[in-house]
Amino acid sequence: MKRIYLHPLPIRIWHWINAFGFIILILTGANIRNIINIFSVETAVEIHSWLGFILLANYCIWFLYYMLTLRIKIYIPPLHRPIEFAKKALTQAKFYGWGIMVGDQNPHHATPDHKFNPMQQVSYLMIMALLIPVQIITGLFLWDPKLFSPIVNIIGIQVVDTIHVFLWVFFSAFIIVHFYLATLGHTTWAHIIAMFTGYEEEHEEHVHGEEHSHSH
Ligand code: HEM
Repeated sequence: MKRIYLHPLPIRIWHWINAFGFIILILTGANIRNIINIFSVETAVEIHSWLGFILLANYCIWFLYYMLTLRIKIYIPPLHRPIEFAKKALTQAKFYGWGIMVGDQNPHHATPDHKFNPMQQVSYLMIMALLIPVQIITGLFLWDPKLFSPIVNIIGIQVVDTIHVFLWVFFSAFIIVHFYLATLGHTTWAHIIAMFTGYEEEHEEHVHGEEHSHSH
């Protein structure tokens, strides 16, 4: 059994603060809209706003780490080879949709430089480069519409609110799918433990040179 170091410390810190923060943001967001009633709406707004700022600072850890180390390239799909990329994405989708049920090996072999399979690459890039920034910016606009009135007046507060709520729905669904995929390692907790320790365990078939992996 070989261990590969996949998740550097700053990313593990970012990830778990982000994961915990997102769960609370999703719940307090639901509380603000009276979908659930754990706290009063005022308390929910208070927690939601504080956590929003904490996750904004936390996002900077992710951003600075990937930009300063230039490792951001692991997030960038090889669009100069679109056909090959599309084929790999399709193979990966077939694995999730069918192969995994009949005991096939994962077609993607994660290494520090090729950590993500094509589906992870596209979805993580969308989330980190677009959806989280949009959620943070619309959150800031809703937190103090007066402060940002020059922009909010142009976009319209309802539009800002609709985008923020729509992304709340998206992230609620994402967390469920992401959690499910995170349990598909060689054991249920393997990928999740790796996100704590940094090390993913490499299985015999890879060590002996096959192209496949249990990493999802
Ligand atoms: C229940 C909460 C969560 C669990 C158990 C979880 C689990 C994991 C695991 C095991 C990985 C490493 C395997 C992989 O690359 O897919 C990972 C990576 C990742 N997760 Fe999560 N996650 C959670 C919440 C979130 C949330 C809320 C977000 C963003 C909204 C998120 C975004 C990401 C991203 C972008 C990566 C790739 C990080 C990198 O290596 O640069 N996760 N997650």
